[in-house]
Amino acid sequence: MAVSNTAELFFSLFNIFTILAVLVGTFVLGLMGYLVLRFRERALSPEPEDAPKLGQLPAPRGKLRTLVISVTLSAIILGVLVVGTFSAIDKINAPPQICAQTPSPCLTLQIEAGRFFWNVTYPGGQEDTNLLVVQKGITVILKVTSLDVFHSFGIEDFRIKTDAIPGRINTIWFVTNESGDYVMRCFELCGTGHAAMKGTLRVVEPGSFQSCGTGC
Ligand code: CUA
Repeated sequence: MAVSNTAELFFSLFNIFTILAVLVGTFVLGLMGYLVLRFRERALSPEPEDAPKLGQLPAPRGKLRTLVISVTLSAIILGVLVVGTFSAIDKINAPPQICAQTPSPCLTLQIEAGRFFWNVTYPGGQEDTNLLVVQKGITVILKVTSLDVFHSFGIEDFRIKTDAIPGRINTIWFVTNESGDYVMRCFELCGTGHAAMKGTLRVVEPGSFQSCGTGC
């Protein structure tokens, strides 16, 4: 199981792309290899009927049936990829409906980017810098903004990222599947400390979260 629902979603999309690419690649290269061998020039090969002749316009080539089949197949493959990609984007963009209930079963946190740190504000108003502690399995919604310049907040292991822009709040969300420490880092060049602009997202088991909370 992937470390978060977003990583799961990304990997399943990646698998669809990979499977289709391998199938198409195998078919095209296989067909090419077969045709190269089948129609290779032999000592007594006759001149092909449609070989170009000097001073003569070449006759039209190709069959309508081949064209229809190849366009239809390409449209089906592209359709699968487009629908898969857009439905994944939809899922990643909008937090699940249950989070709109009151009281919400989801945890909403504010993330403020600054040169060169991440400020985290919990629902109770408690703040921390470069450390975000959440309980495993809970739906976490992050409201991301910036205090100064453009940054980009991302957690690579979760395959999520959103811009941190002053005066604007961008939302991302995830559900964690495994406890552990993950790196949350800046993905937009924002100054001399950009490379070091990192924090830790700590996912803890529900039991230990009850005892040490955000101080885990
Ligand atoms: Cu903040 Cu790069």
